[in-house]
Amino acid sequence: TTPTTPVTEASGGRAHGRAAIAARHLRTDRWWVPPLVTALGLGAFIAYATWRAFANSDYYAAPYVSPFYSPCLASNCTSMKGGADWPLFGDWWGLSPALLVLVFPLGFRLTCYYYRKAYYRGIWWSPPACAVAEPHAKYTGETRFPLILQNVHRYFFYLALIVAGILTYDAVLGFRDPSGDWGHMGLGTVVLLVNIALIWAYTVSCHSCRHVIGGKLRHFSKHPVRYRLWNRVGALTARHMLLAWSSLISVGVADLYVYLVASGAFDDPRFF
Ligand code: FES
Repeated sequence: TTPTTPVTEASGGRAHGRAAIAARHLRTDRWWVPPLVTALGLGAFIAYATWRAFANSDYYAAPYVSPFYSPCLASNCTSMKGGADWPLFGDWWGLSPALLVLVFPLGFRLTCYYYRKAYYRGIWWSPPACAVAEPHAKYTGETRFPLILQNVHRYFFYLALIVAGILTYDAVLGFRDPSGDWGHMGLGTVVLLVNIALIWAYTVSCHSCRHVIGGKLRHFSKHPVRYRLWNRVGALTARHMLLAWSSLISVGVADLYVYLVASGAFDDPRFF
């Protein structure tokens, strides 16, 4: 495409650090479809998660607990028999207990390399797509506050490991019947198991995880085990976008399932 329009601030073409291209974009395809789909998908999840996080009800349907509300860190939780009940915040916390725990997975996903790409393009338009000028006059990348805070991602990764461990514990508790006896299984058990499998796959496929395992090694030949693990994690990292979306959907479905059973919309079908 031959640039015909003059470079303007509105086109983002003059933003420091960006290529000075006069055309609004150099694309011949429907480049706006992926950012639009991303924005709709993220918007739908944010709306649902906000509603559920503030609802402060219907998050426990024995033996299942919603992943949005576990672990319980305040005293105002519905009692979760044998579940992750650690009221560290005591009874001064009067808001929904989900707000205390969602900050960890939220921080993990917000600073995730894939989600950054997703919302920089779909929501912030910085830029909306490759070879498309952004509407912002300035571009400083992630070199200044607040985006420089994206560097804390590796610490959120460690916290995400703890959260995944707790959700694994919750999924195991799904093998009880509502009275607490072990050796049972219902549709909710399957929903929680699929969810935790996807959450682990997403967490382990994190680029920080790959770096922790083999990123600093100078000689792979001297660390054969870490090299093998690094390769395995690398195979998952290549599917990070797919795992980011499937685990996001599964965590929403798991919460919705618990909500529907807890609110009496239907009974959990028990297989044995
Ligand atoms: Fe996506 Fe770490 S890069 S979770």
